[in-house]
Amino acid sequence: MLVIESILIVLAVLVAISIVFSSAVTGISPMPSSKKAREAVFQLVTAVRDDTSAKTIVDLGSGWGSLVIRLAKTYPDRQVVGYELSPIPWFVSLCIAKCLGLDNLTLKRRDYLDADLPVDSILICYLHPEGMKALEDKLLSMSADADVARRYLISNNFALSSHTPQKTIQLDDFYQSPIYLYRI
Ligand SMILES: C[S@@+](CC[C@H](N)C(=O)[O-])C[C@H]1O[C@@H](n2cnc3c(N)ncnc32)[C@H](O)[C@@H]1O
Repeated sequence: MLVIESILIVLAVLVAISIVFSSAVTGISPMPSSKKAREAVFQLVTAVRDDTSAKTIVDLGSGWGSLVIRLAKTYPDRQVVGYELSPIPWFVSLCIAKCLGLDNLTLKRRDYLDADLPVDSILICYLHPEGMKALEDKLLSMSADADVARRYLISNNFALSSHTPQKTIQLDDFYQSPIYLYRI
């Protein structure tokens, strides 16, 4: 019994260290969006989903998968992609997705800043100010040659400094958190 308890304690400590380390690297913990934020994100996705430039839905930092899995279930006709650097949350979300048999969901354990983000997509994020700045630089460099805006960005809580949102939903929560919709 003592051996099993010791193994479980060591595993729990390793998991905690992995999550703390990854949070330090990415600048944010894998904390999921609140229910109200998720509902607002779905409202915005539904508002633009019939646009031809909204073929793929991408969660930039998919954490434990709570948002990306719901997106894949709600929009089975869309390809949904999640990028996540933190190994434990990524692995947990992968296991849940496999158990649910979500064929339209791809979960990648990699940095979205190094990835080719699809055009004709809805990008979704819940990051932090420095993360938004890095994402903004990436989006500006990707759209430098394009004459037509072909991506949407839905951001939970944090704004882009170089763009004006098409729409903003103010959540009815303690912080009156904004959810922004941008055309990139
Ligand atoms: C606050 S959580 C949001 C989880 C989920 N998107 C949601 O809204 O419920 C942010 C996640 O982004 C991940 N992340 C931050 N920067 C990243 C990067 N450059 N590449 C991949 N994942 C990143 C973090 O590891 C964290 O799990």
